[in-house]
Amino acid sequence: MIEEILSLVQKHEQWRGKECLNLIASENLMSTSVRELLSSELGHRYTARDRFYMGTKFIDEIEQYGEKIAREVFKAESADLRPLSGHIADLIFLASFSKPNDTLMCVSPENGGYPGMWKNGLAGLLSLKTVPFPFSKLDMNIEVKEAKEIITRVKPKIVIFGASMITFPHPVNELVKVAWENGGCVGFDGSHVMGLIACEEFQEPLREGASAIFGSTHKTFFGPQGGIILADKHHGEVMKEKIYPVFVDNAHWNRIASLTLALAEMKKFGKAYAEHVISNSKTLAKALNDYGFPIVGKHLGFTKSHQVVLDYGSLYRNNFNKQSRGISEKLQRANIIVDCKIRIGTCEVTRRGMKENEMLKIAELIKRTIIDKEQPGNIKKEIAKLCTEFQKVEYCFES
Ligand SMILES: Cc1ncc(COP(=O)(O)O)c(C=O)c1O
Repeated sequence: MIEEILSLVQKHEQWRGKECLNLIASENLMSTSVRELLSSELGHRYTARDRFYMGTKFIDEIEQYGEKIAREVFKAESADLRPLSGHIADLIFLASFSKPNDTLMCVSPENGGYPGMWKNGLAGLLSLKTVPFPFSKLDMNIEVKEAKEIITRVKPKIVIFGASMITFPHPVNELVKVAWENGGCVGFDGSHVMGLIACEEFQEPLREGASAIFGSTHKTFFGPQGGIILADKHHGEVMKEKIYPVFVDNAHWNRIASLTLALAEMKKFGKAYAEHVISNSKTLAKALNDYGFPIVGKHLGFTKSHQVVLDYGSLYRNNFNKQSRGISEKLQRANIIVDCKIRIGTCEVTRRGMKENEMLKIAELIKRTIIDKEQPGNIKKEIAKLCTEFQKVEYCFES
């Protein structure tokens, strides 16, 4: 039994870690030190807010240290590293500032919003009514003028910016005032762009007027899989009161120590990383567009985030279609890993140190796989060679 389990993990590590071009926009790599902390002694331990458990003196310091760096990195008055995932961080925000029958306004899944926030997810769980932001499919963004009108009419109690498909900054600045005037609490789900926000390379929701940023720590961010909340003092305190005892009892301290180190990496190395993520996305998008792929947002320079979005007609549906699925399956046969929408992410390859030349190479490999219909075997060999040259994780203390 043990051999089987270990062998499956080993096979996965060899394939995804050493032989694949990993271009999933929701994924990234941890540095060796951040990864090692996940298996530290902290993973066995309990703490409690009322000091029920003894033996926690260093854990308490880790928590304080982690929150301090998070506040510094995001220039936030309040930080909390306990949420177990981006989804739970979203839940904490929603549940802290809404009650049943309130209205939630956010980007709908049809327009690239996070499905977990919508009717079948958290909004349904909390009995919230949902109102979608009016959305320009051409610009991949919220329509400001129409959104102002709807906010004035509907008066949503909660307004959440951010999305799963996000290539351009959302108009927080432009809409925050009208949301407040109509009694709305404004948040930003930064799950995807957390690392870019941390480095002031995308947008700064807290400075634009959002009361909180919440979401995942492992997409553009350097952390292990998990969640984080950054907020102003008032909203931060309200959520802290709720996190325990409602959403997290024993926090996962190995993950929090690991995330603390990831925050330190972000503070020191994040700027250069985020700049390269964005320039890599632009290079990749342009090269794919030149090969004839249907890239969204050409008139706006394709993208300002880690995402390059291809439109095969499934983009503005709740699900993917046969054509986009077929393309991602073909790419997978050549060891090029993307999702089925199709959304290509440059965060992981950037963290491996890839730059402009490699983006051009990736575009060429995608073109040879999809347009030239070359044998996947040839492509795989070239990818394995490319991966061997980029095995190290960059933008961290050990590099
Ligand atoms: C915008 C957005 N919010 C929240 C989540 C959930 O994050 P997690 O997977 O960390 O629970 C996702 C997941 O992909 C997402 O895209």
